[in-house]
Amino acid sequence: MAPNSFNNDDPESWQPALETAMLVVSMLGERDNRLRAHCERVANRSASFAEAFGLFNDDERLSFYLSGLLHDTGYIAAPEGLFSKTQPLSDEDRLAIKKHPVTGVTILSNYRWFEAALPVVRHHHEAFDGSGWPDGKSGEAIPLGARILHLFDYFDRVTAGRREEERLTMEQAIIDIQGKAGGEFDPALIPKFVEFMQSTSGAAEDFLLKKQTVFVKQAFASILQKFSSGKLVPPAMPQIVFELRNIIKRPDSSVKDLTEVLERDPVISLRLISVAKSPVYKGQGDVKSIQAAIPRLGFKETLGVVVAIANKSLYEVKAPQFRVLLDKLWVHSLVSAYACKLIAQVLGLKDPETIFLMGLTHDVGKVVLLRAFSEIPQEERLKAEAIMPAIQEAHQSVGNMLLKRWGFGEEFTRVVALHEGSNFSDQTNKEILVVGIQLLRVGRKRSRRAAFGATAGSVVRRHAKGRRKGQGDRQGRGPPFLTRMLRLLRP
Ligand SMILES: [Fe+2]
Ligand SMILES: [Fe+2]
Ligand SMILES: [Fe+2]
Repeated sequence: MAPNSFNNDDPESWQPALETAMLVVSMLGERDNRLRAHCERVANRSASFAEAFGLFNDDERLSFYLSGLLHDTGYIAAPEGLFSKTQPLSDEDRLAIKKHPVTGVTILSNYRWFEAALPVVRHHHEAFDGSGWPDGKSGEAIPLGARILHLFDYFDRVTAGRREEERLTMEQAIIDIQGKAGGEFDPALIPKFVEFMQSTSGAAEDFLLKKQTVFVKQAFASILQKFSSGKLVPPAMPQIVFELRNIIKRPDSSVKDLTEVLERDPVISLRLISVAKSPVYKGQGDVKSIQAAIPRLGFKETLGVVVAIANKSLYEVKAPQFRVLLDKLWVHSLVSAYACKLIAQVLGLKDPETIFLMGLTHDVGKVVLLRAFSEIPQEERLKAEAIMPAIQEAHQSVGNMLLKRWGFGEEFTRVVALHEGSNFSDQTNKEILVVGIQLLRVGRKRSRRAAFGATAGSVVRRHAKGRRKGQGDRQGRGPPFLTRMLRLLRP
């Protein structure tokens, strides 16, 4: 394989190349969506094939994957309408097809990152017996990458071609290809090709995602191990929160006691004052000081707001793609917290402020894990799709451990441990039910979300009203899960 400038372990060496390749592929997709899908399948299958048989080293394989994505780049310059033609091709069309490997190289040679991919792009239509194009190369004079790509390119064209009635099944395509061994295709590759296609049942799994999943599993196991053995230092809840909690627990605590603690942190103080000024907390006169803000909010609400402000810093990381995930998680946590409080208020549960905190901390395990991932040097390679399933699976136990270390009581750790459940009974704590209900509302499934209307409060109110009249919900149907949970929540 041609020399290349990638280093598998250094994302900076290949991230720009990958992003540029994706840009080219999406431009191809604008010309013809089927062509884009074809390039992605060819790249995924060829690179997975090379990996399965230990061809090329890790760095070269990355470059080979890019050549798969880019092999048909030359079609960007194809005449208008070539891809949707039903009539016979014109001379101009035929010329564009013949030229596409060379045109592709001309376009891609402007980018030094694609240097190693160029020979593969140029020769992906060469035949083993020398009857191919553009250069009529034969045998091992054709780069190995191009010989492999030629196979998978052909396979994809005959099994997923434009005309449905002409498509071959995988088995038919394999027989066809076996018949062309030594002619069109490198005979040494054919047995491996057949083995590969049969072992994958023809699926074209996402090569990068698969690599990442393996990497994520290893990284994840070591994070969990470090966390439970105490080697990974979890983010600290600011001291101010503990001090406030202790003061509020005392029966004789005063506004003055709280003010003394809060005034040591000007950022939190200012934010607290601005929250107290907001129209949500109605009262006489303007709030200009901590002493005025605390009574306006009440002790518990003050604590809740301080925890929310202090918590925000947990969601801050440097790596850009983790910042996006953590920002989303922050919004989710904050929305959850307010929705929980609202549900608790509507249902007249005692202590809505504590339930607010429960909503805020229910996914704290995800925060810890995302932060730990963001500190792994190779993090830029990680796609969210590869990380999130692992995080989803472990976030409850990690969150549980963290809240224990932070000194939150069992009522909190129970919510963290059980909030994703669906097995609720009349023995289940009301707090867990409230967090569970509001998660349904903000849940990822649009169908579920749609069933609950605009706000958690309106859903709960509607159900509460319906029940008073003894009717069940509107139209007597309603989501059974929600209905059951609401019944369990009835005071
Ligand atoms: Fe091609
Ligand atoms: Fe192709
Ligand atoms: Fe969760």
